[in-house]
Amino acid sequence: MLLDKFKISGKTCIITGGAGLLGRQHAMAVLEGGGIPILLDISDNALKSAGSQLAGLYPDSKVEFYKADITNEEELIKIRENLLGKYEHIDILINNAANNPKVEAQSANLGTIRFDNFPMKIWEDDIAVGLTGAFLCAKVFGKAMEDNERGVILNISSDLGIIAPDQRIYRKDGVADKDQTVKPVTYSVIKHGLIGLTRYLATYWADKGIRVNAICPAGVENGQDPEFVNKLTNLVPMGRMANVDEYQCTVLYMISDASSYMTGSTVIIDGGRTCW
Ligand SMILES: NC(=O)c1ccc[n+]([C@@H]2O[C@H](COP(=O)([O-])OP(=O)(O)OC[C@H]3O[C@@H](n4cnc5c(N)ncnc54)[C@H](O)[C@@H]3O)[C@@H](O)[C@H]2O)c1
Repeated sequence: MLLDKFKISGKTCIITGGAGLLGRQHAMAVLEGGGIPILLDISDNALKSAGSQLAGLYPDSKVEFYKADITNEEELIKIRENLLGKYEHIDILINNAANNPKVEAQSANLGTIRFDNFPMKIWEDDIAVGLTGAFLCAKVFGKAMEDNERGVILNISSDLGIIAPDQRIYRKDGVADKDQTVKPVTYSVIKHGLIGLTRYLATYWADKGIRVNAICPAGVENGQDPEFVNKLTNLVPMGRMANVDEYQCTVLYMISDASSYMTGSTVIIDGGRTCW
């Protein structure tokens, strides 16, 4: 049966930033496929809340939770050894974690992230999670995949891994140019960088049974300011933002044998935004 190729029965799937908005959706995709999601997240509260949400939706399924900082290689190695002791194999890694400043919500302190005075500390912290964290997880968990001669890695990039942010959608009337918030430079650098990491690893491991791909999701509607939503959706041919569950099917496709001949690919799911 064709649909059997989407099954990932009994496979272990590490999801970094797994307790966040999309991390939970990736976990649902894994559970729908019959796999075991392993959520790594730095936030205790988010892990607790993800735990109760997933237990409510999938009461009979197995989900693992680890409070972990993906910028810390030693922590990752301990988790790998713990998982190998339990399951003997690590099958799938979804590099999803990121520092996500909610620029559209004009959260505190974002005035300081304009490029001209972008602080080194924020540059380093963002790169540490979004890019170095993905590199470390691929290195640490990829080792288990290499030993097992099979595995799948999915990097979560963004439509902003393909195009530049249109800073006009973040502008507020009556605010001086120098005080307008912008999407931080780190977001573009990280999301473009993840596509580079994808191509590098896809070719590096092509003969080792490990496939590496990326997806580029676009903005998920999640209670943002209506004025912002209006400006953003004007840039999207389909005229709307994504629903939170609209990436699940693509994720399951890309982590299962349904995509067995795909490696080094970048799949864009953006309502057409990057066509314009
Ligand atoms: N939500 C969107 O509209 C959207 C659109 C395109 C791409 N993306 C990408 O999807 C991914 C998930 O986005 P989201 O909206 O779910 O974000 P989110 O902020 O809800 O989730 C990110 C999670 O990463 C965790 N995290 C941060 N630093 C960590 C660290 N050092 N170690 C472990 N965990 C850490 C956070 O605690 C959080 O739970 C991100 O890479 C984001 O850039 C999101």
